[in-house]
Amino acid sequence: MQRRKSRIENMRSIVTFFVCLSAVVNSDQPPNIIFILADDYGYHDIGYHGSEIKTPNLDKLAESGVKLENYYVQPICTPTRSQLLSGRYQIHTGLQCGVIWAPQPNGIPLNDTLLPEKMKKVGYATHAIGKWHVGFYQPAYLPTRRGFDSFYGYLTGREDYLTHMTGTGYPYLQPKRGSWNGVDFHRNDQVVRNENGTYSTYLFSREAVNIINDPDSQNGPFFIYLAYQAVHGPLEAPDSYVTPYMNISDRNRRVYAGMVSAMDEGVGNITRALAKNGLSNSTLIVFSTDNGGQVHAGGNNWPLRGWKRSLWEGGIKGVGFVHGSMINQPKRISTKMIHVSDWYPTLVHVAGGNVTGLKLDGYNQWDTISNDSDSPRTEILHNIQPTCSNSYENFTYRAAVRIGDWKLIVGNPGNSSWVPPPGMKCPTTCAGNVTTGMWLFNIAEDPEERNDLSDAYLKKVKELLDRIEYYNSTAVPARYPDPDLMADPALHDGAWVPWQKDPESHFESVLNFGT
Ligand SMILES: *[C@@H]1O[C@H](CO)[C@@H](O)[C@H](O)[C@H]1NC(C)=O
Ligand SMILES: *[C@@H]1O[C@H](CO)[C@@H](O)[C@H](O)[C@H]1NC(C)=O
Ligand SMILES: *[C@@H]1O[C@H](CO)[C@@H](O)[C@H](O)[C@H]1NC(C)=O
Ligand SMILES: *[C@@H]1O[C@H](CO)[C@@H](O)[C@H](O)[C@H]1NC(C)=O
Ligand SMILES: *[C@@H]1O[C@H](CO)[C@@H](O)[C@H](O)[C@H]1NC(C)=O
Ligand SMILES: *[C@@H]1O[C@H](CO)[C@@H](O)[C@H](O)[C@H]1NC(C)=O
Repeated sequence: MQRRKSRIENMRSIVTFFVCLSAVVNSDQPPNIIFILADDYGYHDIGYHGSEIKTPNLDKLAESGVKLENYYVQPICTPTRSQLLSGRYQIHTGLQCGVIWAPQPNGIPLNDTLLPEKMKKVGYATHAIGKWHVGFYQPAYLPTRRGFDSFYGYLTGREDYLTHMTGTGYPYLQPKRGSWNGVDFHRNDQVVRNENGTYSTYLFSREAVNIINDPDSQNGPFFIYLAYQAVHGPLEAPDSYVTPYMNISDRNRRVYAGMVSAMDEGVGNITRALAKNGLSNSTLIVFSTDNGGQVHAGGNNWPLRGWKRSLWEGGIKGVGFVHGSMINQPKRISTKMIHVSDWYPTLVHVAGGNVTGLKLDGYNQWDTISNDSDSPRTEILHNIQPTCSNSYENFTYRAAVRIGDWKLIVGNPGNSSWVPPPGMKCPTTCAGNVTTGMWLFNIAEDPEERNDLSDAYLKKVKELLDRIEYYNSTAVPARYPDPDLMADPALHDGAWVPWQKDPESHFESVLNFGT
């Protein structure tokens, strides 16, 4: 099925490769893994993509590792995070409609075994830091109940970087009661109220550094899932990070650049902590965005078409790289097809586990990343979004699939313009019309999606449509529930916490939920 070498074989080939180097990976123990997920980080916003934003620490890790340049994520937060943590497409978890808004009773189904649970089974200490956003309406959905030994972060999709407070986030709901503004910051199951005023990029970087410095981290492998709040809106950054960008006249872009710089510094702190503890060579670092940049909040995806929320490349072609001494052929750009759902089986493999018996949509890409082998993946279902309607939102049907170099989009793909970074004039055509329709592109030849070939290649269109139909036949019903008024933080001591009891009462009552 999937081509995969055992870990032992991998280690053996590393030993053969670097037999003259004394420091090889300790083959008794799988590597530590740090997965860094940036939020709304645009394709054009990392130094090595020619950005005006400086990211020396990320660039250095990427240069000495493998840059993924045929790497795809989902167009928005919850979908990407759910696929990363479950290894399954949204059509198989019921999350195909969109994000989970704070008061919606929804989450990754409890019968999906999440990645950290698998890591724990093979002996890893598991830590989640930062944004969760895959459901919390019942305690059973919390990170600490889904495989993470520790959690330090927030449960909803966005909040203030300093007060760590958020409202419903739900764009069409007029809260009936109170402002629905509440604290969303937690250490494990306790609400954190004493960090009001401290920028979250400091808090989350510091938490990762503390875990790395912890003597326990020397004893066994750890898995840190560091899902930065950066660089999602609201646009907030300490002045010291923004002043170097005073020559960027667009205010959004300038502050965003500062937010990126802070995140880059945080990653630098983490790599320094690894070095200080002698863990650099035994730690694998994966860096990824969750979706394309939001051009209305400083992000940019030039020269790709569209942006966050769209099925155009600007929404889904992600920044990503892998760094670590266990990569057999580092200092490379990989153009092999990799998708965010692939991290699950890939990282389980690196950890020495297996995914036997799981119904995954991801592929083990370790050989692709480490040895430049061909990708076991030849296609990606970008999504099939049914018409998701309730009393507040109406989404129209849309879908996109990629087979080899070909991509078909049907329905309303979302924002379809090409947006140059602020300060750059559009060199050619930049306006795209948002319409409903059908488009076929050869992405290898036309990564900017400028030449629709759907009229010229009808057989291709049919082939890709058939594939969408096939995938659709495997889909579970989408869940997009109405918001639950009981979620209101005013009812929970001013905090966003699970507001329903678990279906089975094997967890502590929600009424005792820590504040
Ligand atoms: C979880 O249960 C649902 C409903 O029965 C099912 O559709 C889905 O495939 C199950 N998930 C897994 C991972 O088995
Ligand atoms: C945090 O501080 C701000 C003002 O700086 C205040 O408005 C807010 O209520 C505080 N939040 C909490 C949870 O104390
Ligand atoms: C990085 O570490 C330095 C030194 O401890 C600290 O001053 C700085 O705030 C840290 N930066 C981030 C983004 O956490
Ligand atoms: C701003 O200045 C920096 C450093 O001097 C430079 O690298 C960058 O390209 C400039 N950006 C703009 C938009 O002029
Ligand atoms: C880490 O590995 C590299 C070779 O991959 C080696 O040059 C270096 O000395 C090693 N560092 C440590 C601290 O073992
Ligand atoms: C897969 O892992 C399980 C433990 O999670 C183990 O019992 C089983 O033997 C493994 N299977 C293979 C094929 O390695």
